[in-house]
Order: sequence, then C-alpha cells, then structure tokens
Amino acid sequence: MRALVIGSGGREHAIAWRMSRDGGTDRVDLVPGNAGAAVDVGCLPGNILDPAEMASLAEYLGTSCTVVGPEAPLAAGVADEFLARGLPIVGPSRAAALLEASKAFAKEICGEAGVPTAEWALLEDARDIPSTVGRFGYPVALKADGLAAGKGVVIARDESEACAVAADMLAGRLVGTAGSRVVVERFLEGDEVSFMVLSDGRAHCALPVTRDHKRALDGDRGPNTGGMGAYCDDGIIDAATRGRVVDSIVEPVLACMRAHGTPFRGFLYCGLMLSDEGPQVLEFNVRLGDPETQPLLYRLEGGFSELLASAARGELDCSLVQAAEGSTACVVVASGGYPGKYATGLPVSGLRHAAALGAKVFHAGTRLASGVPVTSGGRVLGVTARGGSLREALNTAYAATREIRFEGAHYRTDIGRSGLRSGNGGGS
Ligand code: AMP
Ligand code: GLY
Repeated sequence: MRALVIGSGGREHAIAWRMSRDGGTDRVDLVPGNAGAAVDVGCLPGNILDPAEMASLAEYLGTSCTVVGPEAPLAAGVADEFLARGLPIVGPSRAAALLEASKAFAKEICGEAGVPTAEWALLEDARDIPSTVGRFGYPVALKADGLAAGKGVVIARDESEACAVAADMLAGRLVGTAGSRVVVERFLEGDEVSFMVLSDGRAHCALPVTRDHKRALDGDRGPNTGGMGAYCDDGIIDAATRGRVVDSIVEPVLACMRAHGTPFRGFLYCGLMLSDEGPQVLEFNVRLGDPETQPLLYRLEGGFSELLASAARGELDCSLVQAAEGSTACVVVASGGYPGKYATGLPVSGLRHAAALGAKVFHAGTRLASGVPVTSGGRVLGVTARGGSLREALNTAYAATREIRFEGAHYRTDIGRSGLRSGNGGGS
C-alpha cells in the first residue's frame, strides 16, 4: 500500500509514522510534513488547501489511501475532490465537515438528534448582546461560529466581560469573520474527554479514549491552546460511560448526518464534558485531535493502515482496532510566548538523547534549515512515551522532555496528573 498523509503537525507525523510501521505499507508520504517526519517518511511540498492539487498528487503517486489531518483542507472540499475522481480518502465531505466548521450547525444537529449538549442561543446582531449573553448565567461560554484555529472560544466570567467579548467577536476584532455569528452556551462543569471514532459513513468503531490539557499553564491556568499534552489510559472513562457515549451521542449524530444525505466518513472527534447529568457534547471536530493522536497512535496496535483503507473503501473492519496494555502520554514542548506571539527559526537540540530514553518525539512545528531542525510553530514537539502504567509513561515522557533544548521552550509539568489522582496510575 502507498499512503499519503495531508498536514504538517504532530498529529500528521504520528499518523504517517504509525502507517509506515504496518507490514503492508510500502511507502508513506506526508505533505508538506516537517523536520521530524522527514526522518521517518517522505515529505513533499504542496498547497494542502488546494483540493485539485492534492488529488493530482495522490494520482501521480499512485496512492491507495490518503488521510487528511487538519480541518481546513476538509472544509475546503479535499474529500469531495477525491471522491469525484474515485480516489480513496479518509475524511468527510465539505458538507459533513460543517460539524466542525460551524458550531451553530453542530448544535442544531445535536438538537435534531437528541444528543445531550449545553443549552445555547445564537447571536448575530450586536443589538441583541445585552438580552442574550446572560441568559444562562455566569460564567458563560462564547463561541465564534466559524473555524478559528482553537482561538474561537472564550469563557466570560461576568456580564461586562461577556458583553465586551461578544461585541469584539461580532465586529470581527477577535477572530475575523469566523465570529460574525456567536454561539452563547451554558457553562458546564466536569472532566473533559476526547472521544474519537472512525466511520465509513455507515458503521463506526470507537478508538481508545484520551484526555487533552488545553490550557497553557500548570493547574489548568492561562489561555486556551490547541493542547499542551494528552494521555491515553483505560481509566479515563468506565465501560458503562463509554457505552452511554456511543448510544446517546455517536450513533444518533452519525444517523442524523446520514438522514441529511451527508453521511460522515472519517474521524469524528467528540469533545465531551462528563457532567453530573452524564456526558455532554462540547464540540465536534471532523478529524483526529492534536495532541491526542500522538498518545493514541503510540498505543494502538493492529493494522492501522488496513483499518484506514477499510474505512476509505466503505468496509470498515473494527477488529483492526487493538490497544496495547498500559498507558501512553504526550508532553507538548511549545515556543516561548505560545499561544500568543512567538519567535521561530530557533535551533532544537537534545532530540537524540530524548529518543535514547525511550520516548518517541513527534514533531509539530519544526522545519529543516541548513540540515538542522529549527522551530517553525507554536507547538514544536510532542514527546510521547508508553508504560505499564500511566505513571511510568509520564516518567519516561518527562525524562525525555527535559533533554530537549531550544530558546524559550516551555511545557506543562502536570500532564496526566488528573489520571493519577483518580487512581489510574497503576503499580509503580
Ligand atoms: P471547544 O472548542 O468548543 O471545545 O471549546 C474549547 C474549550 O473551552 C473546551 O475544551 C472547554 O475546556 C471549554 N468549553 C467549551 N464550552 C464549554 C462549556 N459549555 N462549558 C465549560 N467549558 C467549555
Ligand atoms: N486537542 C484538541 C483538538 O485537536 O481540537
């Protein structure tokens, strides 16, 4: 099998690396890739937001399975172009990708499918701000309707903050046109989990559950980020809750998308809050999570390439989803200043020492400059490790993380702590 992976982050490095390790995979290319992925698989230049270019590349390479990492190419219609040319792809159509590209659409689907989610209202006109933002009390979640690269959600503590944020969003000052409609949502409390499934449009299989750490600083303080680390451990949710998520959320949403004539093919990411009233949907993404994919795929055994190919063919084979015993964890090393402004082009060292300690370092924001890896993004590396227990996985990941050096590097020191507290640390 020849595989093509679209994207350049830690998620895509992990997907390409994992596919390259399957016996039946002859070659994996990543477009455009990064400095770390170039060690493991081929990296090719290309404009991933141009569906025709991506389809032509897959035709030229003779690719038997293409996997799309980020949401933007999906929202641009890359899967539609592949399907029109009869090329196998794992990723939803533009119409199905609306589950992520429009938060209001996602809330409407939840309503129609009877899926538990926070009460909400839509704000489209600044004159309605005073009568709408306080409807569900404070704090309140304010969400830009459109794609905003992880920057479109603000939790406002009181009325004055909520009014100011809503006004900024509507006027385009916060996230541009993505904020021209704002979802106002009741604030939910509980533990968050990332529940991801793979669907071929009819059937689906649930993947091992992961937990992300979205805030920039230890103790869940600081601004929201794309994710500062994640772990994969069976203790995150019990079997009964897992079944409840499948029955009350995954299946009704997939059925609703089929009923709309826009079946969902690809990875559906359900961001959930485990509240006192049970699991509630915070958001959908139409792709794998990042960094969650790094510990997820570091733990997944079985034929991952064959699993993806079966989904692309519309003959999903869930027997190929097998998780290793134990746990995995990923610590994101970010640029100084991230998620705000940060410098790039800084040389990265210590990668070999980190690997020697038993970790896999997935690259997220790096490129090669004169043969040397340098920083090129906010999230730079995902230092990923496994262990017989979550504690062991974290110990290895953090030992390796301490070997990494670049100017301004920062990382959270409490990834996975919530998993240890709830008694899932295992023996060591
Ligand atoms: P989203 O992109 O919708 O997942 O929102 C980003 C983050 O904001 C989530 O991971 C939560 O931590 C937080 N969040 C979003 N919606 C809510 C809500 N209704 N109640 C509490 N926290 C929320
Ligand atoms: N880590 C959250 C996301 O991928 O959206």
